[in-house]
Amino acid sequence: MNNTQSTEVIFELSKPGRRCHRLPACDVPSSQPLGALIPQDHLADQPPPLPEVGEIDLIRHYTNLSARNMSIDTNFYPLGSCTMKYNPKRHERLAALPGFADLHPLQTDDTTQGILELLYEMQQFLAEISGLPAVTLQPAAGAHGELTALYVAAAYFRDKGETHRKKVLVPDSAHGTNPASAALAGFETITVKSGTNGLVDLNDLKSKLGDDTAVFMITNPNTLGLFETQIKTITDLLHSKGALVYLDGANMNAILGITRPGDFGADMQHYNVHKTFTGPHGGGGPGSGPIAVRDFLAPHLPAPVVVKDGDRYRLNFDMPKSIGRVRSFFGNVGILFRGYCYIRTLGPDGLKQVSEQAVLNANYLRKRISEGFEVPHPGPCMHEFVASSRELLRDKRKIKAIDLCKRLLDFGFHAPTVYFPMVVQEALMMEPTETESKQTLDAFADTLLKIKAEDAETLKNAPHTHIVSRPDEVKAAKELKLRWHAAPSGGVPAADRVATTGAPAGAP
Ligand SMILES: Cc1ncc(COP(=O)(O)O)c(C=O)c1O
Repeated sequence: MNNTQSTEVIFELSKPGRRCHRLPACDVPSSQPLGALIPQDHLADQPPPLPEVGEIDLIRHYTNLSARNMSIDTNFYPLGSCTMKYNPKRHERLAALPGFADLHPLQTDDTTQGILELLYEMQQFLAEISGLPAVTLQPAAGAHGELTALYVAAAYFRDKGETHRKKVLVPDSAHGTNPASAALAGFETITVKSGTNGLVDLNDLKSKLGDDTAVFMITNPNTLGLFETQIKTITDLLHSKGALVYLDGANMNAILGITRPGDFGADMQHYNVHKTFTGPHGGGGPGSGPIAVRDFLAPHLPAPVVVKDGDRYRLNFDMPKSIGRVRSFFGNVGILFRGYCYIRTLGPDGLKQVSEQAVLNANYLRKRISEGFEVPHPGPCMHEFVASSRELLRDKRKIKAIDLCKRLLDFGFHAPTVYFPMVVQEALMMEPTETESKQTLDAFADTLLKIKAEDAETLKNAPHTHIVSRPDEVKAAKELKLRWHAAPSGGVPAADRVATTGAPAGAP
């Protein structure tokens, strides 16, 4: 189907004089002509060139646009490391309750006891789940949590007079945000190799660990979906050198209620509330990345934190060793609110069941995918696993991981994460999450195994059912165009215009 042609024909809905609404004539008497109140050079000499459409056309335009995107509510979304789990709709209703939604962040503690109680309890829950007693809810996402924790670590070492600790060690399988956060916090980053089993190479770690080490950032389970079984040895080793251990908690979905980072030796960790505790996070946000730390680090947390005096709650700003604020007000409260609802609904047993089910689903899918793809690290895995399609790159069709992912879109599946972690060539990282049924996992596995055998042209030109197929992703990110622009008079429609209807989504 020639989408370009249909796009231009269907796009131009505008007809002069069409309106969604009719405003009554202005009944406010003007004491002075408009031109006397507003400087001449601020006055437009003609109305803005907006599309002129009826209400039904407007509604169809936006409804059709919304249906073009994949979301967890419409499609299976096994994006590894992103924990795209179902977002219960009840949370939306609760978060919209006027008593919470209509609060203003500048209200006094006396008038906000309800939300302060909720945030205080959220701090307690996150402390309990991590085994780390002090929590800040401020960071706005996982990466922001990493940065905040590294500032806290720097403040702690400064306070102890150990400013020579300039290095942060990071495994080569870590998410890119780990070394980026360390660099942004002013540390030098040192990469620690993984062994052939996908776990931290202890000898390499020992060779890089020194008196100048400040922090070791470890992800457990790691980004290959493997539990770092030597974690206690690692944390003891770090502590024997006076260094701290940071746990990247993006993968908490695998271990809720089963083990706690504080118990295996981590000193600090972040949560991705938008992943583990179901904040809707497709499309880039908002996130929430609280951190939990040991009590000796608590004085350095960002102020304010919520405290309880008797039966009253208040914001405590009296923290002289605090690193200061890292986010306006109290963080992304809307996402914290949804996470709170999730934790309260499930309780400790329910959270444990979430992780058990997530691990079961990942292992089932791993087994099915390994019928046709290499899974370089032997299972069992935790909540996700990494397969590789490098064998297809070597055959005469030269099929890349991205070709398979694009083709999956034609069958109504969001792609797995590709090319990450970088320690696996042509990586396909899959995280099915606990909310998916066996039927969905089988349908996905059957499709991936089937398309693997398709001809090169079908795969390399995929997707065939989407209006946007293979954008230049770097350009798309760097020159993001989100606004409609009027066509130059008599000219061609602007490049970033999109059609109101088009090719159907779903299976061909
Ligand atoms: C392992 C890991 N660490 C850190 C992050 C960063 O989290 P955020 O996207 O919330 O900043 C991610 C995000 O995908 C991740 O997968």
